[in-house]
Order: sequence, then C-alpha cells, then structure tokens
Amino acid sequence: MTLQAAMTRSALTSMLLTSSARQLTPAAADGLAEPSHADAAAAQPERIARRRLVLAASGLPLLALPGLAGASGGTTLPLTPRQSEGPFYPQQSFFAQRSDLDADLLQVAGSNASARGTPMALSGRVLNTRGEPVGGALVEIWQCDAGGTYLYTAQTLRQGDPGFQGFGRTVTDAQGRYAFRTLRPVPYGGRVPHVHVKVALTERGARRELLTTQVYLRGDDLSGDFVIRSAPAALRDRLIASVQTTPAEVRASWDIVVAA
Ligand SMILES: [Fe+2]
Repeated sequence: MTLQAAMTRSALTSMLLTSSARQLTPAAADGLAEPSHADAAAAQPERIARRRLVLAASGLPLLALPGLAGASGGTTLPLTPRQSEGPFYPQQSFFAQRSDLDADLLQVAGSNASARGTPMALSGRVLNTRGEPVGGALVEIWQCDAGGTYLYTAQTLRQGDPGFQGFGRTVTDAQGRYAFRTLRPVPYGGRVPHVHVKVALTERGARRELLTTQVYLRGDDLSGDFVIRSAPAALRDRLIASVQTTPAEVRASWDIVVAA
C-alpha cells in the first residue's frame, strides 16, 4: 500500500508555527523539561517545502485499538497519553536555517548527504475517541540523529548529521492518515529509543495543540525508561508502535487518539 501525503498549498500555509523564545538547558533530560506552550510568544507563518511526497507506508494493517464501552453505547478509545516535550523542540534559529521541514526526514533539500542510521517508515492514523479519523491535523516529529545529537538550533545543525532533517511535519488526509520517512531512533543519555510527536489543528487561523507525546518501538526494552514509566501503566501500550523489520527498513505503525 502506498500512502500519498499530499500537502496542498492552502493546507500548509494555514499552518502556523508557534515557537517560544524560551531559554532551555540542552542537558536537561527529556522527561524533566516541559516548557509551557501557554507562554509561547510569537506565532509565525512557517514556509514549508511544498514538494509532493510519496511515502512508503507501513504496509501493516491499521492498528485495531481496543476500545471501551462509552456512555452512549458506542466505542470510546482512550486518549494517547501525553509525554514531556523535552528540551529539543526546534528553536527559531533552527527554523531560520532549515527550510526543508517535510515528512521525509532522510532527504534534506539542497544536500547530497545521506542520513546515517537505519531508515524507518512511521505511519498510522490520527483518530478521535469515537474512532473517527481526524483529517487536516498537523503532525510533527523530531528525534536525535544517529549519533545522538538533536538538531534544534543553528549550532546543532552545524554539529549534527547534515543528511538528517531532524524535524518534519505533515498533514493527515481525510482518513486521518499520516506517514513519515525517518530513522529508527537510537538510545541516548539514559533514554530508550523514541520519537517526539506533536499533533495540532488550525482553527480560525490559530494553532491549537492537541497532544505532545513520545512514541516507542515494540520489541525494545523500555523497562528502565523513566519517561514512559511516567505514563499510567494501563495506557503505556498506547505509546508503543507496532514494528515490522524488512531488509530495507523498519516499518513502524502507530495510531494516535486525540480529543477532537
Ligand atoms: Fe528525546
């Protein structure tokens, strides 16, 4: 199955990037620093590369999320648990340097460098608690490069892997589907491999963030990770993507449930 994540100009130009000029401590652990978005000062239109992406979707069956019986008798899906944002959401100096922010993190526009690491297709759906697809949702991901460096400032862009985009975004289609091409995350600094995720909607020109979380990979030993352990035990499984490994890449499939 091939999923075409087509970003229309109107959809993309309607997306606003909210980025605060916060001062962060890079050494802060992911689980300890969670800057508030309530104090985000500047909402700035972000130029997004408009090239059409054709991404290899996972090929896995869409996840059948077990639900709960709702008051109306319908199925109610538990919300995907929140996880800390961490200190490495890109800052203004990153966006000033990086114009390629699309869903293919393994190709940086204008660079011939290839990203180091193992390619990973990450795909799934954004759903509401009734199990309905949430179309038009902005999904953003960021993660460290294969050497454990987060690309989130102009300085780290100079220090990190020039072949890795570090951050990417896409918009869900009418079926709520999203797809990224990125790296299989690597462990760093006491953390197990994970990818940071934000989901937002644009309403009346304003960005409304629905979820900030982190996704992990099934099969990894997550027992010692203090961030995933901060999630309610009964809901931790909602943070773990199904994984299928092929000779060419890792395919991770993960559905996200938000209040929308
Ligand atoms: Fe992290």
